[in-house]
Parts: sequence; C-alpha cells; structure tokens
Amino acid sequence: MLDKLTQIEAVASQALAQVQDEAALEQWRIAHLGRSSPLMQVFSSLGALPREKRPAVGQKANEVKKALEAAFAARSEALRQAALQRALSQERLDVTLPGRPIVRGRLHPDTQILRELYQIFREMGFQIYRSREVETDEYNFQLLNFPVGHPARDMQDTYFLQAEGRGDNPLLLRTHTSPGQIHAMREIAALDPDNPPPVRIILPGMVYRYEQVDARHETQFDQLEGLAVGPNITFSDLKGTLADMARRLFGPRARTRFRASFFPFTEPSAEFDIQCFQCGGKGCAVCGGGWLEIGGSGMVHPVVLRNGGYDPARYTGFAFGFGVQRIAMLKYGIPDIRYFWENDLRFLEQF
Ligand code: DAH
Repeated sequence: MLDKLTQIEAVASQALAQVQDEAALEQWRIAHLGRSSPLMQVFSSLGALPREKRPAVGQKANEVKKALEAAFAARSEALRQAALQRALSQERLDVTLPGRPIVRGRLHPDTQILRELYQIFREMGFQIYRSREVETDEYNFQLLNFPVGHPARDMQDTYFLQAEGRGDNPLLLRTHTSPGQIHAMREIAALDPDNPPPVRIILPGMVYRYEQVDARHETQFDQLEGLAVGPNITFSDLKGTLADMARRLFGPRARTRFRASFFPFTEPSAEFDIQCFQCGGKGCAVCGGGWLEIGGSGMVHPVVLRNGGYDPARYTGFAFGFGVQRIAMLKYGIPDIRYFWENDLRFLEQF
C-alpha cells in the first residue's frame, strides 16, 4: 500500500508538470485530488486494512495529499503569473497611437438663426430684452388691448395653467412675445416716469399655442419681437428697419412688402412679406405666390403705450413680431417645422 501511494504521487506529479492552462489544471485536480481519485480511494479503503497497518498508511496518504495540494497551489500560481506576463507583453499600451476623435457638437439651427438675428438688430441699435414664459392673462392679452372675451383672442389658442380663484386673470403660457413689450416699457419708463427714456429692443423667446401640429405648426416655437418707442417714430422707421433686416438676412436684393392687417395692440397694423429669394418673386415650391409671409407689425396702439407708461401724446412707436423657425425654414429650405424639436441627428448635423 505504501508503494502504491508513492506511485500515486509520482504519476500525479508527472501529470502536473504537463499542465499548461487553467482548464487542464482543473481536470488534473479532479483526477488526482477529486473524490474518486486513486488517492481518495486509498483513504476510503483504510478501514479495510488490518488495524496495525492503518497508522503508517494513513500517515503516508496524508503526506501525499499535502504534497499534491502544495504542488497544485504552486502550479496554479505559476500559471497565473505566466498569464499575467503574457498579457503585459502582448497587450502593451501604445501611447503613441493617435487618440479617438472627439465628436464635436454644434449649435442648434434655431440658436444659429437667433444669433444671426441678434447680430443684425444689434447693428441697428436694438438691445435684447427677455421676459417670462409663464404669463398672466392681463399681460398676455388685456394690457395689449385684447379685452376679456375679445374675438381676437381666438387667433391664439392658449394653454391655461391656473384659472381657479384668479377671476379674469388666469395664468397661462405666453402665446406670443408681445407681453414683454409691457414689461419692458414699464421697466424702462420707471427709470424716469416724467420723461420716460426711448426704447429700442428685441424680445426673443419661446411661445406656446394649443395647435394642431403639422408641417407649419408646432405647439411651441420661437418668436422675435421688436419694439421701438420714442418721440417722432414713424411707420417709415418700421419699414426701413424690416427692409434692412430682410436685406441682411437674405441678401442685398431682398424686397419687402406690407399688407394691411389687424392686431389689437397696433394701429395701423400690417403683415410683412419678403420676396422669395429662391425664385425672385416668380413663384416656386418654397413660396407659392412669390412672397414669403414673415410676421406682423404696426404702430404701437395708444392704449398699449399708456399701459406701458408712455404718454401717446408725446411718444409713438413701432412693433413687429415673427416666427424664428419660419425664417430658418425659408433660409435653409426646411420643409417641416417638426424637425426642429425632434432631436434627430440626421437633421441637426446638416447645420
Ligand atoms: N404677437 C403677434 C402674434 O404672435 C405678432 C405681432 C404682430 C407682434 C404685430 C407685433 C406686432 O409686435 O406689432 O401673432
């Protein structure tokens, strides 16, 4: 039995020397130290031995087991070290490789066109005035000469936020940037109430309408409002300003046209069009009839001037407002307003 144990150890040691990887090592462990390995069978057969032989055989079996276990651990560690060395030499980091290019973002087409407009109006002396998107009925409508129940309100389907307990003055999402006119005039007039300073501002920002969404209508869009108030401001100042904007946006040959219209907060009121830069006014797929409708404008209504703190006997003013996406659509030939907020990179990456 003792010879058998010596032989078991020799065979196992030899086999271990052949082991080259983790899988083979595990197989070796099962074969030579596992429950049905020859060594373990020696342990199970101890009871069948004559009593006086048991201690010697048992002791030897234990020694062999310890020796094999130690050899197993050593081999396992050696394999691990070898694998590590291999990984270190083969997977060496090449710090001289060029880096991965960083994907650079870009400005949203909406931001681009807004900045272009800011630049155009800055050169004409307009400052940017921002005001809130959550408004009261009073500012969004009443102070702009839309009385409660006035049919002109129907042009602007409104999202109401809170009506309860607020009577005729519910909270709403602004339907246009025009309420900013009142905020701005009041703020600027307060600087010198007896002699309010002149105003020359643009008011950009998001507006919200409860619209049926289609290629030309969204429930949110940017407007750019303009307001100039001072002594002797005339309709020709308005025409000159918008004609100049059109030339700076669409080129020196861009022509503008005014059509009589109605807005409660201007008198007289006009819609303004720009001659199509694609077809030069002949009519094409972009414009239809040769002219592109841009927005509304007019001379600030005396009631609105007074609500802003300006005496209509001493001051006049012009105002205009248009959809920023409209301009971007015309300028870049974008056929559908829904692209702007869809967050589709295939669209955004073109700008
Ligand atoms: N606020 C109007 C709208 O959203 C547009 C507008 C028309 C603004 C005439 C003006 C203006 O300042 O004078 O439909």
